[in-house]
Amino acid sequence: MTQAAPDYVRNTKLKAWVTEVAALTQPDQIVWCDGSQEEYDRLCNLLVDAGKMIRLNPAKRPNSFLACSDPSDVARVEDRTYICSANKEDAGPNNNWEDPAKMKDKLTGLFKGSMRGRTMYVIPFSMGPIGSPIAHIGVEISDSAYVAINMRIMTRMGRAVIDQLGSDGHFVPCLHSIGAPLEAGQQDVRWPCNPTKYIVHFPETREIWSYGSGYGGNALLGKKCFALRIASTMARDEGWLAEHMLILGVESPEGEKNYVAAAFPSACGKTNFAMLIPPKSFDGWKITTVGDDIAWIKPGPDGRLYAINPEAGYFGVAPGTSEKTNFNAMATLQENVIFTNVALTDDGDVWWEGMTKQAPAHLIDWQGQDWTPEIAASSGRKAAHPNARFTAPANQCPSIDKDWENPAGVPISAFIFGGRRSTTVPLVYEAFNWNFGVYMAATLGSETTAAATGEMGVIRRDPFAMLPFCGYHMGDYFKHWLHMGRNDKVKELPHVFTVNWFRQNDNGEFIWPGFGDNMRVLKWIVERVKGRAAAKETALGWMPRFEDIDWTDFSGMTREQFEELTRIDNAAWQAELALHAEWFEKLKSRLPRELPLMCELLEQTLAE
Ligand code: OXD
Ligand code: MN
Repeated sequence: MTQAAPDYVRNTKLKAWVTEVAALTQPDQIVWCDGSQEEYDRLCNLLVDAGKMIRLNPAKRPNSFLACSDPSDVARVEDRTYICSANKEDAGPNNNWEDPAKMKDKLTGLFKGSMRGRTMYVIPFSMGPIGSPIAHIGVEISDSAYVAINMRIMTRMGRAVIDQLGSDGHFVPCLHSIGAPLEAGQQDVRWPCNPTKYIVHFPETREIWSYGSGYGGNALLGKKCFALRIASTMARDEGWLAEHMLILGVESPEGEKNYVAAAFPSACGKTNFAMLIPPKSFDGWKITTVGDDIAWIKPGPDGRLYAINPEAGYFGVAPGTSEKTNFNAMATLQENVIFTNVALTDDGDVWWEGMTKQAPAHLIDWQGQDWTPEIAASSGRKAAHPNARFTAPANQCPSIDKDWENPAGVPISAFIFGGRRSTTVPLVYEAFNWNFGVYMAATLGSETTAAATGEMGVIRRDPFAMLPFCGYHMGDYFKHWLHMGRNDKVKELPHVFTVNWFRQNDNGEFIWPGFGDNMRVLKWIVERVKGRAAAKETALGWMPRFEDIDWTDFSGMTREQFEELTRIDNAAWQAELALHAEWFEKLKSRLPRELPLMCELLEQTLAE
């Protein structure tokens, strides 16, 4: 075990920060992660030996593990997440705020001795291919070995990052503690954490402090904390975009390739969409995956917007994932995976709701209890937690794009915004122009899911699918997007589309089949960008008519059903616009004037 920094660490700021944090948190030992396979295996074995992870049956799922969390630590905690900007107004009504000095004082108190009896891991990571002009470096200090192994899958982690940092390279310090010190002789628990949780960002000094949780976005600090909350602030200051978007490639039978980036709120099917397999009738069409959750986007030398996926793995929602809904994800999950909060089968494999039509006769559920379909029927108890996750290396995905690690990124032709809306929002429409696209994205609404703690199924405004992830005032964020439209480095703007896969009929059934059939909508989108697809003009934007969609080998949609799916219900839209206006009212002090004007314009057009 290494206590002092290894010789290859030359960054003076990093060494000083590690020394300072160790003095505060008082760990038993310090391990500098080198990112090697040997180190990964050692940490996995350590967790297995300590009873904190189960090694799955190697004949079923080689080199894979199951970790189950404390029932109080299962999702991102948005009400405990803070943006501590120097000025309260800069954080906006979309964020919790506390004075940075006061918050640092409070956190310093909590972190004092918080790693006693534990190992402190120093985890250097690059968001994006190491050395890419779009990539940035962070270093996470964590007292969780589970965090260290997840970070090795989710980011480029280890010694190569330290080498890239050199003696004076810049990194974002990401401090994490589960807040569960061990006194001498004290028995550890399976998932140590603290009932007090703080996920805190200091945007001006680009720092992250996270305390009390070991789960997902609360603890794997490269993801939501750095790649979205801190990066969105960096992007605003430097003229680029850090977005909650998947990136996929669409290749036509003629070999024409277009990339699109799509924003959907958490647990709305981004991973499924990113790995879509076109229906059989789309012979020769191919979808390739660049990323499933986050996109960093910068103007390129030719004036187009170029995107990278800053992550190296998928931290996807397991329930609902099956060979039918996402064949490529299931293939990605065959080996080298960390599962969290799914159920264990009697033969040492994993299962979750929706994985197979028929549930196994017996399981150990995510809380370690016996589970059978009969128990589920009588108690309603789920085998897997609804926000159960898999952590899997991106390069295991059969649909991975050949340019997914291209340091220059891939050129984006279209932005797609979607929410989970059972009513009101049509299947697809294209904004008349960039500013109207920003309006559509700024007013995106969605029914809440299990990805965050809180009530499920209520509609909340989730602009750009960034409500929980924008590191500054949402009004300023909209301004930044409007400015991108007139940035002189951007010569060719992507077209902007809204989609809704989730509209229901009067019987509460989904009208649109979704999944692979989303290809039909995607084809229309790409052809619109190329000026080849027809559309009708509506109040909301350009919309396909029935005959504008490729229905080859698809009998599940009549013209009447399609009309229902794309109907603009005037009364519902008047109510919707009232909600937009209410939402804008909350952001009033920093809202760009264009947006309420567009709301009024839309209201008038709808009334005509
Ligand atoms: C995620 C989320 O984990 O958005 O990707 O919650
Ligand atoms: Mn996400």
